[in-house]
Amino acid sequence: MRRRRIYEGKAKVLFEGPQPGTIVQYFKDDATAFNNQKRGTITGKGVLNNSISEYLMLRLEAIGVPTHFVRRLNMREQLVREVEIIPIEVVVRNVAAGSISKRLGIEEGTTLPRPILEYYYKKDELGDPMVSEEHIAAFGWASSMDLDDMVPLALRVNDFLTGLFLGVGLRLIDFKLEFGRLWEEDEMRIVLADEISPDSCRLWDVKTNEKMDKDRFRHDLGKVEEAYQEVARRLGVLPDSIPAEGSRPMLVQ
Ligand code: TMP
Repeated sequence: MRRRRIYEGKAKVLFEGPQPGTIVQYFKDDATAFNNQKRGTITGKGVLNNSISEYLMLRLEAIGVPTHFVRRLNMREQLVREVEIIPIEVVVRNVAAGSISKRLGIEEGTTLPRPILEYYYKKDELGDPMVSEEHIAAFGWASSMDLDDMVPLALRVNDFLTGLFLGVGLRLIDFKLEFGRLWEEDEMRIVLADEISPDSCRLWDVKTNEKMDKDRFRHDLGKVEEAYQEVARRLGVLPDSIPAEGSRPMLVQ
């Protein structure tokens, strides 16, 4: 079946979906870091992130967090609702790591006094700069009403996912969310979009503090594929076999 390709990102390709208002998200094995300066492949990542994100979005839906997720189609694709992506990445941090450690000189692993929210403007050419609510409002990237929905949702997602991951022996250090505007008739709702996976979260093993996320790729720590598989295994969504990219799509049973 030929489908119209709408957009190709660093880790996913979006195709026109089967019904109007739907999109197919195809998960690639490609990985980038530091705004595309480092590139590589993590074999099987697309399959694992597709399943992990499906699982987390469904669990969030079950507690009433609206998402764009409809259903998984096959090993590498999921059907989602078409939304207008808000060009802001919302990062929630529980423990210092990555850019906050570097920027503010906080030792990695320091528990933060409370969850900290940060905003980044989605603009590859600029390397996704950090921005404030002032910038967001002044440039109209999101309205204050949009933010009034996004902020409590991000904190709810944080509380819920912190507990969920703790239940499988992982500490949710930080993560990034994207939101979209979903139009139904003349009504607009803010929903969670994109994906939630070890590409967009930092997850450390509770006992060993071992990094179980994309930091293994970013900093060449080795056992990258194994970390993604282990996260999927702990969540109970590790597939029996992981088909290579470009193989025939395998339908969901
Ligand atoms: P940071 O410490 O590099 O700012 O990253 C914070 C969190 O956001 C981390 O879990 C990784 C995630 N993230 C993305 O998903 N996409 C990005 O482009 C960046 C910079 C971070």
